[in-house]
Amino acid sequence: MSSDSPRPTSRRTSEPASGSVAGARDSSPAIEVRDLDKFYFMAGQRLEVLKGLNLTVSPGELVAVVGQSGSGKSTLLHILGALDRPTSGSVRFGGDDLQDLDAEGLARFRRSSVGFVFQFHNLLPEFSALENVSMPQRISGAYRDERAGREMLALVGLETRLHHRPGELSGGEQQRVAIARALVNQPRLVLADEPTGNLDSRTGSRVFELFREVQRAKKHTSIVVTHNARIASKCDRILKLENGSLEAVSGTHV
Ligand SMILES: Nc1ncnc2c1ncn2[C@@H]1O[C@H](COP(=O)(O)OP(=O)(O)OP(=O)(O)O)[C@@H](O)[C@H]1O
Ligand SMILES: [Mg+2]
Repeated sequence: MSSDSPRPTSRRTSEPASGSVAGARDSSPAIEVRDLDKFYFMAGQRLEVLKGLNLTVSPGELVAVVGQSGSGKSTLLHILGALDRPTSGSVRFGGDDLQDLDAEGLARFRRSSVGFVFQFHNLLPEFSALENVSMPQRISGAYRDERAGREMLALVGLETRLHHRPGELSGGEQQRVAIARALVNQPRLVLADEPTGNLDSRTGSRVFELFREVQRAKKHTSIVVTHNARIASKCDRILKLENGSLEAVSGTHV
């Protein structure tokens, strides 16, 4: 499959481009998305996945995104987490425009500011839970010792599973390791794409409760894609992605 992700040409001229994304100003939104389009071009056809999408998220807010399969939820998360670029439109994070960052700036943003949790945990099978959780620190250069990894694993209740490899952990435990890994660099933005989609509903609820607790304690701004209505109802706000844009299901705004 090929995707077409041209570099957006829109650029704010009133402010200098910054090479790194600065911390969110207290009163300003954590995330501001304006007129976001994402089109894929395949076999001469244009597939319009996101069309004029707007989104504002406050610092520390936990927003659920729901929507039918294929509506573009993962596409949106990938753009917010700088894993992909929009066709056009702007994504501001902490007051800086992501489209002003070059590839290296985006990589730095991803490493320092974003934690991802995926439906399938994507843990490295040859490494222990502790090594997996420490991996983002090693990649970002923040690694000093095992302490942060141990603390994160304790936070998700896995202090007695430090040296288990993923294959030696239950599904719920693997997903808790994935959450610990997403949070170890203390990201300001946590993006979770069906983090409990692979778990039975009871385990999924427990894992989400834990995610919620940690999110509250650490005040991460978070967006969770979920098909689970119970999980969505525990978020601060629910948005539905339909026909390429978001509408409020609970809460007053998108
Ligand atoms: N790289 C790509 N090239 C072309 N089309 C793509 C690409 N990635 C996704 N799509 C299409 O874009 C649409 C949105 O995909 P996306 O993965 O964002 O959906 P989703 O809402 O996350 O669905 P699900 O709930 O099944 O995970 C789908 O129709 C998909 O086929
Ligand atoms: Mg998806």
